This record gives sequence, C-alpha cells and structure tokens, in this order.
Amino acid sequence: MKDETQSLANKPDLVDMFSRTISYLRLSLTDRCNLRCMYCMPLDSKGGLQVLKHEDLLSYEELLRIVGLVVPMGMNKIRLTGGEPLVRKGVMGFIAALSQIDGLDEIRLTTNGVLLKEKAAGLYAAGIRKLNISLDTLRPERFKKITGLDLFDQVWQGIEAAVEFGFDVKLNVVAMRDINDDELIDFAGLAVDKPYQIRFIEFMPVGRDSSWDKNTYISSSELKERIGAMGTLEPLPGCRLDGPARMYSLTAADGATGRVGFISPISHHFCDTCNRLRLTSAGRLRACLLHDREADLKALLRSGGTDDEIRALIKQTILDKPKGHTLAENQAACSGQMSRIGG
Ligand code: 5AD
Ligand code: SF4
Repeated sequence: MKDETQSLANKPDLVDMFSRTISYLRLSLTDRCNLRCMYCMPLDSKGGLQVLKHEDLLSYEELLRIVGLVVPMGMNKIRLTGGEPLVRKGVMGFIAALSQIDGLDEIRLTTNGVLLKEKAAGLYAAGIRKLNISLDTLRPERFKKITGLDLFDQVWQGIEAAVEFGFDVKLNVVAMRDINDDELIDFAGLAVDKPYQIRFIEFMPVGRDSSWDKNTYISSSELKERIGAMGTLEPLPGCRLDGPARMYSLTAADGATGRVGFISPISHHFCDTCNRLRLTSAGRLRACLLHDREADLKALLRSGGTDDEIRALIKQTILDKPKGHTLAENQAACSGQMSRIGG
C-alpha cells in the first residue's frame, strides 16, 4: 500500500520513493525487428510472430508530445530502442524532430546494426553521437544461427561505418554458455584493437518463452575471470559505472589497452542507482524492466488526456517504481517481451 503522506505533491517531479532521480527515458519505437534472435522474438501458439498492429504503436506525434512534456520535468536523456528502432518507417524524421526539443541533452540509439551502414550519415546529421550495437558473435555462420538471418557482414560493415563517422560505439554482447562463450576472448580482443567498448551482459530470463536457463547464464565474475586470462583486467577508477556497466581497462600482453564493461543484472543488480523509465512500444509506461507492472499512457492519450493528466501519470509511475528486482540466479522472470519493452 502506498503511504498517502508520500503523495505526489511532496515529491520533485522525477524523484522516486528511494531517492533515485529518474532522468533517462527509454522509448521502444516498435516491437518489430529485422532479426529473430533466439532469446528475444516470441512466437505465438501457431509458430507465427506476435507483433503489434501499427495503430497500437504510439504515433510519432504522440511520442513527441510525451517527450515534450517529460523534458521540462527533468528527463534529459533518451534512448531509442525496439525491437529494432531503425525498421520503423519515418524514424529519421522523428529523430530530427526529437533533436529540436529544447533541454534534451542526448538522444542515444540501441540497434542491431543491420541498417546502420545506410543510416549512419542520417543519424549523425540528426544529432545522435552514441550508439549501442548488439552483437553476440563474430562468426557469420553462428550469427545466422543466433539471429536467424545471414547478415553478419552487413552488421559488421554498419559497425565500421559508424566508427568512421565518429560515433561513440559500444558493442553489447549477451554472454551465453555453449552458445557464444568460446568467443569471449575474441570480443575482448576487439576492445583492445578497435576504438570501441565491449560490454558483456548477463543473460536475463525475460519473456514467457525465453530460452534462458541457468546453465546458459554466465555470471560476470566468471566472465571477468575468463577474460582476465588474456591480459590484465583492472577496474577503472572514477569511471566505475557507465550506466549499468562496471568498467575495466584491459591490457593485453603486448601492452595495448582497451575498455570492457560488465552489465550484471542478475549477479549484482544495479537497482539502487537505476535512473530509468521505459515507454514500451505498446505505449505503456514501465518503471522496471523486470517488473511487469505498467501504466497505460496510450489509453490516457487517446481518451483526450490533458498535459496535466499525462504528467501526473508519469509522476505516479515513477513513485511506483519498485525498489529493485529480486531475481536470483535460478528464477524465472517477468513475462513481458523484450522486443516490446525495449531492452
Ligand atoms: N538477457 C540479456 N540481454 C538481452 N537482450 C535482449 N534480451 C536479453 C536477455 N534475455 C539485449 C540485446 C541488446 C539489448 C537491447 O538487450 O542483445 O543488446
Ligand atoms: Fe532498474 Fe528494474 Fe533494472 Fe533494477 S531491474 S535496474 S529497478 S529497471
């Protein structure tokens, strides 16, 4: 039960019940994707893909209205996610319009890289400078197995194009035992050889049909130990946390160095410093990736909700943000779909 004495009126707009300032909005622009990653894309009972109808997505006008309201409340950073955000029609124009919003310091993008080569110039022109690119393997054959499509080369060219344009690039690797853990050293080697960070993410049990199991999951401490075998891995002082990632410098035997990060939602959850709010592709506000509780912002918008009502729903969702998740290493998690929630 909520304590009524801690009601909306007593709280600055974006501070939750646990003194976390929620300044970071993640917008899932679509649940559609041009890949079919084995741990993400849910199939219905007939084996078909479940995706939202176009009219069930928030329109760009609706999204711009929401962002226009939350930025003055104090949200200064937005990440666009999916599904794959770049598959949504008109996305470049939307990003250009977003970048015109006063007070929005940063727009970041999470992408699978498939469309990056053709869109890198436009993204840069629209003001995006930071890209997170998801890539779980460096082997074309395996890429096809994990993602269902034979597009490794295209993604790789996209990554190279992004680096050439001068984007700050981070590669996100979901570590999975017996699926890609024989490539940990290859990935870590990229951090040393290339101008981008590699971030290893613990595999999370998200989604009803998730392929997660505790044998596939690898803890960050095991990852560190295994990667440490290729060189010296040292925590970066003063930059210990980059978002949810714990950052390390990696120095190879020949003295070359790079940066690697570990994102440990399971073994060392970072809930106490979590600053995010999500808007799912279905237009629902979600305060925690791993809690299914959502507020139906789309319904409010479409029933003629006023700006004040929208702000109130946002504040309430923030006040209702759970303290953290209680996922232990062997529990099944939320039933929401990653492709809809937005990772
Ligand atoms: N566990 C960990 N990471 C996941 N991602 C998607 N599903 C999972 C999962 N079950 C990652 C994607 C991408 C980011 C948006 O989330 O690979 O890097
Ligand atoms: Fe934040 Fe929820 Fe993620 Fe914890 S699990 S870090 S509270 S979003």
